[in-house]
Amino acid sequence: MSYPFKILNQSTSTIQSGRVGWRCPSNIAIVKYWGKHGRQLPRNASLSLTLSNAHTDTYISYKGNKGGKLSISFLFEGEANRAFEDKIKKFLDSVLDHYPVLNLLHLDISSSNSFPHSSGIASSASAMAAIAMCICEIDQVISGNGSETIDIHKASYLARLGSGSASRSVISKLGAWGTHAEIHDSSDLYAVAVADVHEVFHSFHDDILIVSAAEKSVSSTAGHALMNGNVYAKPRYQQANDRISELKKILKSGDVDAFGKLAEDEAMTLHALMMCSDPSYVLMEPGTLDIIREIRNYRLETNTPIYFTLDAGPNIHVLYPDSVKEDAESFINQVLVPYTANGRVIKDIVGNGPKKLV
Ligand code: DP6
Repeated sequence: MSYPFKILNQSTSTIQSGRVGWRCPSNIAIVKYWGKHGRQLPRNASLSLTLSNAHTDTYISYKGNKGGKLSISFLFEGEANRAFEDKIKKFLDSVLDHYPVLNLLHLDISSSNSFPHSSGIASSASAMAAIAMCICEIDQVISGNGSETIDIHKASYLARLGSGSASRSVISKLGAWGTHAEIHDSSDLYAVAVADVHEVFHSFHDDILIVSAAEKSVSSTAGHALMNGNVYAKPRYQQANDRISELKKILKSGDVDAFGKLAEDEAMTLHALMMCSDPSYVLMEPGTLDIIREIRNYRLETNTPIYFTLDAGPNIHVLYPDSVKEDAESFINQVLVPYTANGRVIKDIVGNGPKKLV
């Protein structure tokens, strides 16, 4: 697939220096992206809630370099971090075909997360989205195209090349990535905003219960690769496609119970796929299952619309509408928090996407 955006070029030999900064949130998929091919292309469309409190702030100071090759320095939470620096350098080198201007630059990048680094929360979505917004702005400024409006699809495309789920983190409120007949303008190349969404979903809560802060035992790239040999891969991609159609209707009608059921079914499907891949992974912990049981019991007993979803890890995302906030919070504090690692909860809510910091 050819690159759908204009490649900007620096026309003069003098590069001005400057500084940009963007805050990007994490997101939680309701229909999951699991399985990819080619240059970061999804096997199925996915749809997520953009969060607000779990976010990454990234600042980049840029200036002309001498050697004609991109160079960077990277600080994570104020300290040098070689592993992250290598990852970001590799990512930026991989997008030089779309951003040739980078080879004229030295970038001093500094990044920090609002959530604790060792919380077990994957930060690649917010981190790659924030870098993508910064690079898009630098590209526009240096090529004389201003910095006022960033083309959000272009930023999403770039974020996607860093991490698939990051493509959705630049979209306000609800984002969908991957071509789907019922999502207007959808594309495998970038995420788009989901239209026709009932307002109940614009203030939906996602309280993240940290069951284990341990590093993931399987990287997402390795996890996606496991789908290649999974006998359920084909029906799974069809199922995800069907679930997006179903979810579109639910989002329009505001049917919170149907939304919660679909979110839970997707979480269980994702983990079932990992359990039956070769090698098999069990990423849930005993506390994960305890919390799932408690949520289901509480719902049965009280009829309160509280649901869960999971990422590729043991931590639980508790989903509920703003109308039951008080009941949900006391249930979480009294019943669920004892199952977490040191009482850790990150309280989050649907948010508006990227925020310019500089
Ligand atoms: C389970 O976006 O982390 O969170 O593209 O390899 O960086 P890469 O994978 P990544 O995968 C996320 C998978 C998921 C589901 C989702 O967010 O859709």
